[in-house]
Amino acid sequence: MNKKILVCVTGGIAVYKAVALVSKLAQAGAEVKVMMTESAMEFVTPLSFQVMSRNDVYVDTFDEKDSRVIAHIDLADWADLVVVAPATANVIGKLANGIADNMVTTTLLATTAEVWIAPAMNVHMYENKSVIRNINRLHEDGYRFIEPAEGFLACGYVGKGRLEEPEKIVELIKDRFSQPVNLPLTGKKVVVTAGPTRERIDPVRYISNFSSGKMGYSLAAAAAALGAETILVSGPVELPKPEGVQLIKVESAAEMLEAVLSNFDDADVVIKSAAVADYRPKEQHSQKMKKQEGDSFIALERTTDILKTLGERKRNQILVGFAAETNDAIEYGKKKLSNKNLDYIIVNDVTDPDGGFGNDTNVVTLLSRKVPGTYPFEAMQKKELAKVLLQTILKLESDVDNDS
Ligand code: CTP
Repeated sequence: MNKKILVCVTGGIAVYKAVALVSKLAQAGAEVKVMMTESAMEFVTPLSFQVMSRNDVYVDTFDEKDSRVIAHIDLADWADLVVVAPATANVIGKLANGIADNMVTTTLLATTAEVWIAPAMNVHMYENKSVIRNINRLHEDGYRFIEPAEGFLACGYVGKGRLEEPEKIVELIKDRFSQPVNLPLTGKKVVVTAGPTRERIDPVRYISNFSSGKMGYSLAAAAAALGAETILVSGPVELPKPEGVQLIKVESAAEMLEAVLSNFDDADVVIKSAAVADYRPKEQHSQKMKKQEGDSFIALERTTDILKTLGERKRNQILVGFAAETNDAIEYGKKKLSNKNLDYIIVNDVTDPDGGFGNDTNVVTLLSRKVPGTYPFEAMQKKELAKVLLQTILKLESDVDNDS
């Protein structure tokens, strides 16, 4: 691995594992430099890192070893990758809020390299709301996290909070820099929609559905893993952003329509797994509606059918829809396939105990326009199913290309 890795070590008992990490990175052929915070030095001396990295160790923003450069800027520019390991709740909080009060945090703000954060802390700290908020914010800002493992913690608790093993971190870094193999979707743009939409009634109420977004997120992850530039347009869900995917968060059907249309013309594949509301309140009240005597009614109007709109606009895009049904699933699926001018439709019977909203598993049947027939899949994990579905669609497409 011919890469320059800057390891930023912050103060926790897991600092000793960072020594092993630096040693293993150097053994794997990386050029490693280490920066430590004051608290990290309470656990291990800079000398250990100096020996393992065979480089100077940096601890003080104002200790300029080379008068020709400013050390923290020079190191920030030098690195191909910055790894914060172990990352304390403190450094995570500072980074999430743009604080630069020591050499590590200053360098983290100054670098344009990818920054990976490997947290290690007490399980209750890791589950603390402000820590979660900071981690989520950093996810949104594009930082990558190496999640801590579960197990015995130095503080005596058992739970999530152990720094991931150095061997595993080195593997992840090696994978990151391995030459991309020729993946089937390299150079292709895939747009996936996921989750429910929310149609507001007033500032505190909305109409929505039980979609969890799991199927769509799994499809986006699978498309990215197959090499596609992947855009995930998601309604409100409680799921982390899949690796390598660009996430666009939306709320209503109208916002989803706009986000999908602005990504449609240069897309190669569009997969609409979102459970889009068919109706929205005709009127959105700007103030909370007060209860009245007797029954109440909300007038609803139709939303735009996004998939149908795409079917009308489509040129070379492969358009994949979903049909969530409770009865006569295949028949309804076939109708939607032709009415919406789709290439494929993935039909699922949401009453099946192994399928539908919220479950980790799903049971679906794929229908194709170009290759008539039904392709049923057994119940399987949505993550697994997403891969198999994409592979099947790619196989059917290549069969069609070979025949024509
Ligand atoms: N869909 C859409 N825009 C809408 C409604 C649905 O793009 N306003 C898409 C969904 O993302 C899905 C497909 O249409 O890919 C089918 O959605 P589904 O709810 O099963 O069916 P509908 O077309 O809404 O038909 P019906 O409610 O009559 O079953």
